[in-house]
Amino acid sequence: MSYPDELREQVEEYLQQLRFSEGPATEGIEEAMLYSLLAGGKRIRPVLALATAGALGVEPQSVLPLAAALEMIHSYSLIHDDLPAMDDDELRRGKPSCHVAFGEDVAILAGDALYAEAFRLVLTKQEAEPLRLLAAAGELAAATGVNGMVGGQYIDVEGVSVAGPEGLRELHSRKTGKLINASVESVCLLEGVDEERLVNFRAFAVELGVLFQIVDDILDVTGSDQELGKPSGSDQRQGKRTYVSEFGLEEATALAGVSHQQAREALAKAAPSGAPQLEQITDFIAKRES
Ligand code: IPE
Ligand code: IPE
Ligand code: MG
Ligand code: MG
Ligand code: MG
Repeated sequence: MSYPDELREQVEEYLQQLRFSEGPATEGIEEAMLYSLLAGGKRIRPVLALATAGALGVEPQSVLPLAAALEMIHSYSLIHDDLPAMDDDELRRGKPSCHVAFGEDVAILAGDALYAEAFRLVLTKQEAEPLRLLAAAGELAAATGVNGMVGGQYIDVEGVSVAGPEGLRELHSRKTGKLINASVESVCLLEGVDEERLVNFRAFAVELGVLFQIVDDILDVTGSDQELGKPSGSDQRQGKRTYVSEFGLEEATALAGVSHQQAREALAKAAPSGAPQLEQITDFIAKRES
């Protein structure tokens, strides 16, 4: 299956040159941050941001600071998600989780620091008209706060999602969907697209985010530790509510197919003359095996 590898390479190169510490005392936390950030990963969020820029007719490279910030925020969320107090997973991106390698105290701080440094990167390095930059940064904050990713993670760990399919969709759209949504929407805001276009791109990105987590739930059951680079069966061990626990594997797979179709239809509406890289990413998210 094809993936916009040229965009992934641009992201990888940009991430590799990032440094945070200004003195020897804090080199250790920088090491923990880079350990998790540079451990690989599919780079779906930053690649999505670059591909969105391309779909809007803008040079993808011009949004690299924003794209890197999305990946830093994602990496922070993975570090915290793996902590013993949360999902208690010891393998991530094919390596010992951050807290296993550096201790829980340093892992918590590495996550905190990645979050703050992500905003510093956007606010100091991303070129844009100031009001648009402000709107994009505001979107990042909203997508990751109480009504976004962290709120979704809270609903997940406390098991307080609303019963029924809508409640499950809401859980997924918050804990995972919002950041994926922001990967598209923050670029739209940066480029100042009009309201109608923004609404269409949002509809695509919202569906893509839910699709992403449905597939993640399925892979947690069907994948191996080695394929996934993280422990399979984690959801069942933690008694998590997932598309598989709710509907069974077969029905969850069918629902992923419906969601894939809806995402492709929404994309066709958002980009009527085609957006090959966004189409590739959408298909990749639906069909991926890790
Ligand atoms: C895993 O995300 C965590 C979820 C939000 C489900 P990814 O599957 O994108 O993880 P990496 O970045 O490729 O490691
Ligand atoms: C995590 O969902 C979503 C995040 C915000 C990190 P999961 O707990 O299912 O992610 P994995 O399966 O550990 O990557
Ligand atoms: Mg989790
Ligand atoms: Mg987890
Ligand atoms: Mg999972």
